[in-house]
Amino acid sequence: MQTKLLTRRFDTPNSRSIATYLADGGYAGLKKALTGMQPAEVIEEVKKSSLRGRGGAGFPTGMKWGFVPVNSPKPKYVVCNADESEPGTCKDRELMEKDPHQLIEGLLIAAYALLSKQVFIYIRGEYWYLIAILEQAIAEAREHGFIGKNICGTSFECEIVVHPGAGAYICGEETALLNSLEGYRGHPRIKPPFPAVAGLYGCPTVVNNVETFCAVPHIIVHGGDWYRSLGTEKSGGTKIFSVSGHVNRPGNYEVRMGYPLKQLIEEDCGGIRGGRKLKAVIPGGSSVPIMTAEEVEQATLDYEGMAKAGSLLGSGGVIVMDETTDIFMTTYNLIRFYNHESCGWCTPCREGTDWLLKLFKKIARGEGTTADLDTIRRLCPNIEGRSHCPLGDAAVWPITSAMKKFPEDFLKHVKPATAVPSAA
Ligand code: NAI
Ligand code: SF4
Repeated sequence: MQTKLLTRRFDTPNSRSIATYLADGGYAGLKKALTGMQPAEVIEEVKKSSLRGRGGAGFPTGMKWGFVPVNSPKPKYVVCNADESEPGTCKDRELMEKDPHQLIEGLLIAAYALLSKQVFIYIRGEYWYLIAILEQAIAEAREHGFIGKNICGTSFECEIVVHPGAGAYICGEETALLNSLEGYRGHPRIKPPFPAVAGLYGCPTVVNNVETFCAVPHIIVHGGDWYRSLGTEKSGGTKIFSVSGHVNRPGNYEVRMGYPLKQLIEEDCGGIRGGRKLKAVIPGGSSVPIMTAEEVEQATLDYEGMAKAGSLLGSGGVIVMDETTDIFMTTYNLIRFYNHESCGWCTPCREGTDWLLKLFKKIARGEGTTADLDTIRRLCPNIEGRSHCPLGDAAVWPITSAMKKFPEDFLKHVKPATAVPSAA
């Protein structure tokens, strides 16, 4: 059963127009913040809500905003990460396509809270058709006095610029995104310093995901406590899950944090297609450990619940696989993706994903042995935790978890290794 908060206007005719948004109480959060709250109070409300970053990492949003130095002489920036590229994840696309004003309002409230005059929406190049939708919404918001100078009749001023990326997965990593926005190659930077202190052009910058910003107007209108009460104590609010794969009704589903994963698959998504059995789920976009059907039984969709069930909530891209799925081939597909998307900056990820791909190719050709599986097992820990950015970890987590949880799917592709004859 869905709890539609961020997605509640999706089925309203003409949902993306400002008239629809205003008729449904839109921009009330911005007006309330600008005319009745101090910036610090807005941050406090977001802290109370226990909203956590919806891009994947789940970092507490209010805490992140609180890291921005209040009295910095430098300009401050708000950057919306709309570079949604995580395999299996398509929630931000729908949020921008169907309700762009909700995002714009969230961005403006964040800008006010951080005393920023400039917002950037960094959107993945493949979402070119959404750029026109966002530009149209920005123009409408400007006409209504929500963007530009003297917003809502106050002294607050802010501009929003939409900037398209060029199709690199790594530009979803926040510091690679900032480099790309500055016109440089999209290589991740060393952290710390975190962007909140030194981000765009070396200035304090808050980078959050589309869904995170979309939650902010609701928090301001109804209060942080109300928002938190929709979910669990540590994972407040609702979350949108993009369910794909072998279910009868794939799509984006918004549920309360703490909702049972099994219920999402079996009831909301109509169960496994063709009446087959569930075999595995990758619950948080492809960059998280795979789960067995048994692990899915008890899993709840919140940060703590997913960790307890042996995986991570990630970006909420739930990839469902039925009993006919060959997990080796699934994993092969993923390593092809990560190898292709590795930016090549650091050796463990650049070389490691290349070696992994070569081994997977060899096994898929029917030329692999159990020794190749051992080599894969030895290679993974030399990438995980040794790479410059999380892409290296993301590349190996699905592999190590799949080899551990579905060993038979790997063994069926290889022959026993022949012993090397000893020199004697
Ligand atoms: P992270 O844990 O390094 O950082 C999370 C956020 O908290 C960042 O904005 C960071 O700047 C901030 N932060 C952390 N510690 C801080 C401190 N001490 N001071 C100030 N700020 C601090 O994780 P990261 O690298 O940002 O994201 C990794 C996640 O992204 C993965 O879990 C993956 O699931 C997800 N992901 C999502 C994609 C998508 O398309 N939505 C694509 C690829 C990965
Ligand atoms: Fe680039 Fe991979 Fe290193 Fe990240 S881990 S910096 S994607 S080479």
